[in-house]
Amino acid sequence: MAGARGCTLTTMAENFTVVIMAAGKGTRMHSAVPKVLHAVCGKPMIEWVIDAAREAGAGRIVAVTRPDDGVAEGLPEDVAVAEQREGEGTGSAVLAARGPLEEGEPVLILSGDHPLLTSELIGQLVRTQREEGAAATLLTTEELDPTGYGRIVRAQDGSVERIVETKATQGVPPEELAIREINIGAYAFDPEELVSALEEVEPGSNGERYLTEVFPILRKRGRKIVSHKTTDVRSAFGINSRVELMEAERLARRALIEEHARAGVTFESPDTVVVEASVEIGEDVTIAQGVSLKGATRIARGAEIGAHSTLVDARVGEDATVIHSHLLECEIERDTLVGPFSYLRPGTVVREGAKVGTFVEIKNSDVGRGAKVPHLSYIGDADVGEGSNLGASTITANYDGKRKQRTVVGKRVKSGIHTSLIAPVNVGDEAYTGAGSVITGDVPDGALGISRPKQKNVEGYAERVEEGTDG
Ligand code: UD1
Ligand code: CA
Repeated sequence: MAGARGCTLTTMAENFTVVIMAAGKGTRMHSAVPKVLHAVCGKPMIEWVIDAAREAGAGRIVAVTRPDDGVAEGLPEDVAVAEQREGEGTGSAVLAARGPLEEGEPVLILSGDHPLLTSELIGQLVRTQREEGAAATLLTTEELDPTGYGRIVRAQDGSVERIVETKATQGVPPEELAIREINIGAYAFDPEELVSALEEVEPGSNGERYLTEVFPILRKRGRKIVSHKTTDVRSAFGINSRVELMEAERLARRALIEEHARAGVTFESPDTVVVEASVEIGEDVTIAQGVSLKGATRIARGAEIGAHSTLVDARVGEDATVIHSHLLECEIERDTLVGPFSYLRPGTVVREGAKVGTFVEIKNSDVGRGAKVPHLSYIGDADVGEGSNLGASTITANYDGKRKQRTVVGKRVKSGIHTSLIAPVNVGDEAYTGAGSVITGDVPDGALGISRPKQKNVEGYAERVEEGTDG
């Protein structure tokens, strides 16, 4: 097999191989990114199919990709890769994976652009194929708009005669366009029957060799073809354009949200919320409107995520509250309060019971237990000790134009408003800083660090302005 990897590492979980066709041009996506790498709920389409195949117990998974299309690089280690180096079309895709096919076990052919195909349906395909001793089993549905899909043409006796492609409709007779039953593009085959039939398939006028052309060939040979009709719309839904991608996103997101709701999460306005597949949410969490939860975000029990918050790779502790804030690669521990309008950037940890307030940005910093950064601050590369309270507009100057330096604020420190902390600098435990101070040197424990010009009053100033003698 050309470009194979991973095959020998795999143990046989079950005696069937899954081939995922993922090397199509996907021209209707109008994208520099291969179609199967477009994400649905944050997860590339092909990974949805891989996960379903794995869950169904596939012994071996092979993805068909194009050389250098970038698809193979992102695949999990246990997925083998077959490169489609010659020929166009789904038939050519399957022939590219023929190496690992010829081993006498059923092979499932799945499409990388059906991200919502369930493991149950995959399991059903394998079971039907085995029970019926069929040469081929295919999945069909009548539940979708058939536009653009392959339609199932049945013989008088109801058996599958052939599949007519309807991406281009010219030349397709009206009685065939009237057919509602479509081919989902998920099949089980006897591998030898499949490969020998495919060898007989000639490329069509568009240069593509269609996998679906094997059905009339198998039929002519008198082989058994079984079809299974499903009402599972999500599994049946294939993606050729971004319009369909949006629809898949909508379907998948709704399913994810319902899954979380069944597990004890309250969504105040589910239709306005974005949740990616990788997100974990505990019981009794409330999610308000317009919230986006992405990446490896994990929210513990009882937390409240307020309206219009965005969390990307963020960890939220039990009973924490986030209000209208943006959290990126950071952690807030239990009973913390963040927002409204806080921006927590990578490397930030907000410890238990701490509070980060309005118009506060924090980056790569540790805010200690019960500490408060309530208003208008930028805290970068700093450690703030437990119980400290940074006055409004306390700012760390962590960058001298060349290097980032750390600021260390001790325990139970109180900084006055408009304190500038010029790093590297240490403020000792229980120390104070005066309002408006620019702190460039360390402040010892319990001291007041103050650095600002002494106030001077110019007496009678207003009168002099009035007389025009002020300057
Ligand atoms: C295909 C089926 C159609 C079915 C539909 C279901 C054929 C000829 N038609 O049509 O009957 O209703 O799926 O969604 O099979 N691929 C390759 N290499 C190629 C071409 C395609 O690996 O050279 C892959 C694609 O990445 C995709 C899958 O095969 O994941 C299906 O290809 P696509 O071009 O999307 O086929 P459809 O026209 O949708
Ligand atoms: Ca397709």
